[in-house]
Order: sequence, then C-alpha cells, then structure tokens
Amino acid sequence: MKIAVLTSGGDAPGMNAAIRAVVRAGEVYGHEIFGVKDGYQGMIDDIMIPLNHQSVSGMLSLGGTFLGTSRAPEFLKEEVRQKAVDNLKNRGIEALIAIGGDGTYRGAMDLAKMGLKTIGLPGTIDNDIAGTDFTIGFHTAVETIVDAIDKLRDTSTSHQRCSIVEVMGRHCGDLALFAGICGGAEFIITPENPMNKEEIISKLKQHKKEGRRHAIIVITEKILNVYEFADEITQKSGFASRATVLGYIQRGGSPCPEDRILGSRMGAYAVELLNDGVYGVCVGVRDERMVHLPFSNVVGQSRPKNELYKLVKKVS
Ligand code: F6P
Repeated sequence: MKIAVLTSGGDAPGMNAAIRAVVRAGEVYGHEIFGVKDGYQGMIDDIMIPLNHQSVSGMLSLGGTFLGTSRAPEFLKEEVRQKAVDNLKNRGIEALIAIGGDGTYRGAMDLAKMGLKTIGLPGTIDNDIAGTDFTIGFHTAVETIVDAIDKLRDTSTSHQRCSIVEVMGRHCGDLALFAGICGGAEFIITPENPMNKEEIISKLKQHKKEGRRHAIIVITEKILNVYEFADEITQKSGFASRATVLGYIQRGGSPCPEDRILGSRMGAYAVELLNDGVYGVCVGVRDERMVHLPFSNVVGQSRPKNELYKLVKKVS
C-alpha cells in the first residue's frame, strides 16, 4: 500500500519519532511511505517526498517536525479537500496518517468521509484530545515548563516575589496542572480549576505574614491578562509580583523519552491498523495500552477533569 504521513497544527516534540515509526514499520510490511510537506497545505499543493529507512535516520531526538506543519484554513472548503484527495489518488496513495490536534482530526475525519483511509495520531503539547491519556509532545513541554518554574523560583526567592507563569494549553489546563504540581506551585489556575482573584490575593497576604519568600502561580493562557494581574497582586497583597509568558519555547526541544516512546508506539500502531483494514479512527494510549476510536467519538469532545486536581487541593 502507498501511505502518506503528515503533521499539522502546532508542532510537538515526538512528532518526528511518530513519522519515523510509520516509515520503519511501513517498510517492514512492504508499504511505500510518502511524507507530505507542511501539513494539509502540502496535500493541497501536491508537495510530497518519498521516505525510507535512511531518510528518517537521526530523527528520533529531533524537536519540531521535519516534514513541516501549518494551519490551513483553506482545508475547510470541500473543493480544496477534493483537490488534496485527488493529488494523493493520482500518486496511487490510498491511506493517510495525520499527526496533530483537534483541527487536524477534523480535517482527517472529513477526508475519511471522502474515501481516504485515514488514521489520526494525537500530536500536540496541549494534551487536549479526548480518547487518549496523553498526546505526543505533552511530557516534553511539561519538562520545559518545570525547568522554567525552577529557575523562576530562584529569582523569586531572592527578591521575595510572586511569579506568575503563563503556559499554553488553549482550553485545556493539563500543562499548567502537571507542571504546577512538579514545580511546587502555590496556585494552579486552569479552565478546569478557575480561582477567584480575591481569594488568591488574600492567601498571598497570609503567606507574606508567615514570612514566605516566594510564591508561584501557574496559569493557563487565555484566562486573564497576567501582566495586569501581577500589578494587582503587587498593589493589593504586599507581595511584589512579576509575570512571565513562556510562549513558544514550550513547543520546542528534543523530545523526552516518554514522547519518543509514545510517538514510536503510535506510529507503528497506525501502520498495524491499516494492515488490519482499520481506518477512520484515531489512536490513543489508555492505561498504558494502545487503543483506537472513531474520529466522531473524539473530535470536539472534552476530556474528563483530571484526577490530579484532587492532589492540587492537598499539596498546594
Ligand atoms: O499547539 C497548540 C498550541 O501551542 C496552543 O497551546 C496555543 O494556544 C496555540 O498552539 C498557538 O498556536 P499558533 O502557533 O497558531 O500561534
């Protein structure tokens, strides 16, 4: 079978491990693999490269995605998707493995309806995909954030400050939750765990009275303006506060072992599904095991509130 693979949406460490596994597992079963450049845009523009064992050599430890990625709003149009499908068909490609987040899955689900044998792999640092415990890239981003929190605590303690750390996640608080716990944050504010500003300020006043030298607040992006919040804390709590927006640094870097393993497992599993004639599904890991679900069960669905929130109440 001729199989195409692409990465789409925000890049995530471990995407290269997944592509590599698709190529290597594909070769074992005698498939021909094509890498689509720059996500769905490359499918529209018909830019694809043949991939073999050698072309993915050295990719396991590389951050980002060597195929490139994009957000392709044009892909929402049916005639554009039809052109993209025709491009694959003209090359004799029957199947597509699309690695990305919810937007990527929506595109893949639409392509499946148009007759392409499509498999989705969850690749996003946000960990916001239903049907999987973890997405490729999440663990590396958590490590990056924890490293930043550790550094911010050094300077916050020296200056007796409260540091607000804004992290990515879009509408999902998992990055803030996991990194906040690992970094010993005093407060973790996420869409799933909103916190009242007044309550935080009053607790910070108390911390100040107790002689605590630092406080860390980890907050998911898009909740409030962290610079304004820092000023408010400074004025009202007596704890001088500074805000740091970590931004795109969270998406970069060499994937950690968990993401290399997850990407490799998911890439190989996707090929096995195609071997078994299973498609129109997306892959996940649940309780350490590979699973797959129809796109319709996953796209647009939110994940249940993480069990770790119970821990936050006890230790922060
Ligand atoms: O990849 C997911 C994500 O990093 C979100 O956390 C963030 O809101 C978004 O991408 C930023 O995307 P863009 O690269 O389009 O600015």
